[in-house]
Amino acid sequence: MQTLTVQLGERSYPIHIGSGLLRAGTPVRAAVGRRDVLLVSNVTVAPLYAGLVKSALAANRIIEVVLPDGEQHKSLATASRVFDVMIANRLGRDAVVVALGGGVVGDLAGFVAACYQRGIDFVQVPTTLLAHVDSSVGGKTAVNHPGGKNLIGAFHQPIAVISDTDLLATLPDRELKAGLAEIIKYGLICDADFFTWLEQNIDALLAREAAALQRAIYRSCEIKAAIVGRDEREQGDRALLNLGHTFGHAIESATGYVDWLHGEAVATGMLIAADMSARLQHLDAADVGRIRRLLERAGLPVAAPQIGADSALGYMRIDKKVKAGRVRLVLLERIGQATLTGSYPDAALDATLKANFG
Ligand SMILES: NC(=O)c1ccc[n+]([C@@H]2O[C@H](COP(=O)([O-])OP(=O)(O)OC[C@H]3O[C@@H](n4cnc5c(N)ncnc54)[C@H](O)[C@@H]3O)[C@@H](O)[C@H]2O)c1
Ligand SMILES: [Zn+2]
Repeated sequence: MQTLTVQLGERSYPIHIGSGLLRAGTPVRAAVGRRDVLLVSNVTVAPLYAGLVKSALAANRIIEVVLPDGEQHKSLATASRVFDVMIANRLGRDAVVVALGGGVVGDLAGFVAACYQRGIDFVQVPTTLLAHVDSSVGGKTAVNHPGGKNLIGAFHQPIAVISDTDLLATLPDRELKAGLAEIIKYGLICDADFFTWLEQNIDALLAREAAALQRAIYRSCEIKAAIVGRDEREQGDRALLNLGHTFGHAIESATGYVDWLHGEAVATGMLIAADMSARLQHLDAADVGRIRRLLERAGLPVAAPQIGADSALGYMRIDKKVKAGRVRLVLLERIGQATLTGSYPDAALDATLKANFG
């Protein structure tokens, strides 16, 4: 097991990464102690792994909530049902929420923990690759509103993240690949050597080789933890984590969040960001080729749906990163270095959108 710490003063917390962590039980027992537990999972994940959590916490009082599966259930209505269960079972301020699932369960359970009695402790036990490397770390919690994704939420850091790589064994291939997109993102924004390592190890990752997965998850969490430690509330650096997300947001919105997984949209979005960076002569054309090849080898899509440049721009303007009417973009200086900027020639964005969205 490897452990790293998200450094946030008195809100610092460990991320434990390794194989067999739930089966051993020690990390989750250490985080929870003897307190009451609200275990939140969903109908897909609970039958696979809730038993491991319950055995690890055999001495605790556990209230279990099993949610339906799917992004559409990351809602205030679902959160409200969870509050009902907590209140009916008289859970106190010292209870701990344990989120067992992907980003949907983690975001919702985290949001519930942030609100219940003005905030109680919670532990993340991520089960998708995306949750291992992204959503379980950093304390962003939210539910969706019919008017938009993640519009209602809070910053609330977990007290521990237990990242057991064994849980990835049952993850559908397509979800695994979507998680790889976020891992590739970390190499692109701040670690060229990690990007090269990914080029060398992408086949091992696709084959779910434990050592490769653990290394990729560890490095990704290390990068995210460092960024969150510097900029918890996204006033600066943390925005770099949105590489590919603004263009990807246009793809997800235009396709109604059903055909494309988030990581797939981010993959194509990163390639569009790379294309624009090359048009502005920051990034070499050869490096755009390297990025495209790695994404393709990871089994990720690299061509956007032809929704038209105007419609893509329309969706990008609804993105949260718009400031003073200007769409700010994360662009690449080179592989391993990104910048957030609102000052680019409009003609470059125009040309990029026309070339990629038709
Ligand atoms: N808080 C953050 O910082 C942050 C960051 C990125 C994404 N997110 C959020 O995360 C969500 C997406 O998360 P996701 O990609 O993990 O999707 P998800 O939670 O919907 O999981 C994807 C699918 O895999 C299933 N699944 C999960 N673990 C499994 C396992 N081990 N074996 C078999 N099936 C398994 C789930 O039931 C689901 O059907 C979005 O709501 C997004 O907004 C949050
Ligand atoms: Zn993302």
